Amino acid sequence: MSEIIRVEHLKKYFLFKEGIFSRRVKYLKAVNDVSFSINRGETLALVGETGSGKTTTGRTILRLYEPTGGKIFFEGKEITNIPKREFKKIRVQMQMIYQDPYSSLNPRMNIFNIIAEPLRELKYEDIEDRVLELLESVGLRKEHMFKYPDEISGGQQQRVAIARALGVNPKFLVLDEPTSALDVSVQAQILNLLENLQKERGFTYLFISHDLSVVRYISQRVAIMYLGKIMEIGTVEQVFENPQHPYTKLLLESVPVPDPKDRKRRKKLILPGEIPSPLNPPSGCPFHTRCPVAKEICREKEPEYVEVEKGHFVKCHFPG
Ligand SMILES: Nc1ncnc2c1ncn2[C@@H]1O[C@H](COP(=O)(O)OP(=O)(O)O)[C@@H](O)[C@H]1O
Ligand SMILES: [Mg+2]
Repeated sequence: MSEIIRVEHLKKYFLFKEGIFSRRVKYLKAVNDVSFSINRGETLALVGETGSGKTTTGRTILRLYEPTGGKIFFEGKEITNIPKREFKKIRVQMQMIYQDPYSSLNPRMNIFNIIAEPLRELKYEDIEDRVLELLESVGLRKEHMFKYPDEISGGQQQRVAIARALGVNPKFLVLDEPTSALDVSVQAQILNLLENLQKERGFTYLFISHDLSVVRYISQRVAIMYLGKIMEIGTVEQVFENPQHPYTKLLLESVPVPDPKDRKRRKKLILPGEIPSPLNPPSGCPFHTRCPVAKEICREKEPEYVEVEKGHFVKCHFPG
């Protein structure tokens, strides 16, 4: 198995000013020492509540944000600090699909131009044929070519975003909650499409989601994120069948029962207590303020990772 992506101790801090006139600045540690790798053809899911740092992790890997610290490797080559010009060639092999397809598409361009734009930039030939091919590969037809984003459905918009990303022949895709803005009926279609594309083309995915039922279905490995840190990581089987972190257990218990009549419930992760502000994260283990089994040491000392079984790591003083 060859590794396509590796991050080591990745950090992304945002400078945060307390009020417009304030001179006090603080760091918001959105991604705070994250390490993982993804093998070719594999899907790693990144799971956690809103604000845990999932999107920032994805964007930092693609250097849409410059990392504050740590290292990023693509196919064994470190890309953390390589010059923008050199990075450009690598960057096209990494694409991102966003949660809200409409805002990721230029509303003033028709579908043809949206998909053709990156191809023109890379000086591809036979652009028309290629756009048609791409439309077909995402289940759209020629008729869609001259429509505008607001003239097609959310599911179709997401298909267009996927076609645009595929045009440049990427190897690695960050899928940032690609179905959570879509109707339930359409969600499964888009997930199937992403799965089939992966099978056909050997794509590697970082699949960001807070829907554990989807994660279980689509990924091989899972990383559970909380306040900028990975609390537990392992195969789907390890994490779902043998969760070790109290936070993971809480997340698993909060998986809503699928109810086809209730569209909204499926999407919400409702956990007891509130997620602390990342501007003032708790001392010690960041989860201790909500943890049902926290002890004195959890307030004082941040736990190290423990490998509870092969490839299954947990950051907790009292795993299991
Ligand atoms: N561009 C930004 N500038 C400042 N703070 C940000 C920015 N993007 C995200 N954040 C903050 O970083 C934290 C993590 O956000 P995000 O990565 O979007 O989490 P998630 O995707 O898990 O919901 C949040 O507290 C968010 O407010
Ligand atoms: Mg997000």
